[in-house]
Amino acid sequence: PDAIVVRAAGKLFVAGEYAVVSPGQPSVLIAVDRYLTVSLTAGVDAGSIHSPEYSRMPVRWTRGVDGLTLDREHHPYDYVIAAIEAAEQLRASRGLAPRFFDLRIDSGLDDPSGRKFGLGSSAAVTVATIAAIDAFYGLRLTLRERYELAMLATIVVAPNASGGDVAASTYGGWIGYRSPDRDLLRRARAESGVAGVLGSPAWGDAEIVRLEPPSGLDLLVGWTGHPASTERLVSGVSRGTNATSTDQTAFLAASRACVDDLWRALSRDQDAASADLALASLRRNRRLLQELGARSGVTIETDRLRILCDAAEDIGAAAKPSGAGGGDCGIVLAPAGADLAGMLRAWETNDIRHLTIGVHPPEGEH
Ligand code: PMV
Repeated sequence: PDAIVVRAAGKLFVAGEYAVVSPGQPSVLIAVDRYLTVSLTAGVDAGSIHSPEYSRMPVRWTRGVDGLTLDREHHPYDYVIAAIEAAEQLRASRGLAPRFFDLRIDSGLDDPSGRKFGLGSSAAVTVATIAAIDAFYGLRLTLRERYELAMLATIVVAPNASGGDVAASTYGGWIGYRSPDRDLLRRARAESGVAGVLGSPAWGDAEIVRLEPPSGLDLLVGWTGHPASTERLVSGVSRGTNATSTDQTAFLAASRACVDDLWRALSRDQDAASADLALASLRRNRRLLQELGARSGVTIETDRLRILCDAAEDIGAAAKPSGAGGGDCGIVLAPAGADLAGMLRAWETNDIRHLTIGVHPPEGEH
């Protein structure tokens, strides 16, 4: 039988990191034109998950997926397993019989040498697995339902994740994102199951809006060569900050004001002032994250990220760490006419790799 082959885009955060972990706080992300692929083929009397990267430990299941009993120790597949469970619960609620299937995962989101760029492979594998199972059972999910299902799966594995990466991978393009309250979602799922949570009030202030690319600005991405652990950084920052302190309240308010400006600068009716507003907003966000790092004692902007961003600011561009920082990538918005060659030379001297990454276009309608 033919395989169902689905790819999901990677992502980069543009603004609003850390703040977006709090429900209702705005952020900006892009989907990038690097992909993770999931191939699904119907199974006969067993199901499996395998991936060239993790081929030494394929996962198999031989009971019906209703009583899905997977070996929970296979860590790399946590997101895949959580996605299967969420999608299968929805399938069961629709009265469809379970069937076995084999999943093969190929990630194009990592460096060929195996080091992670930090482009959101966990979100992409969750989104792609849900899309593949959607096609397999003919569930006909909307984009919003796919995001919601992938988000429910994600927070089983990463309880505090904002899900911005899930939204970007699902919707494509430039998006504005506000996260839902994950505790509320977990309670709602426990009470009314996956089907009961989809489209329910439990999503609260969660929002995904389509933004436009900034006209007149080039987007560039630099890679520090150092993979970072988002989980470690986020828990370090939350340990190092007092959620109810005036400093933290001020950070959230300042991040909101800054990202609100960026949303405006990326609206449909951009004018001559929009590009400057976007640049100013990105620079301000960089400073806010530096302050957050200093206050919490966590190195968000590492030395290499500082060099990367300073080289961009030196040529009149704006830049900041993308995502949790601590390594991974930095993102640059450069006005027309900026001396990009000069910036790239400074990067090269400092062993910062220019990743030629573009934006993956928006999917369908919101
Ligand atoms: O490091 P990344 O690209 O996974 O982004 C993390 C962004 C945070 O706001 C710090 C955490 C989150 O869940 O949004």
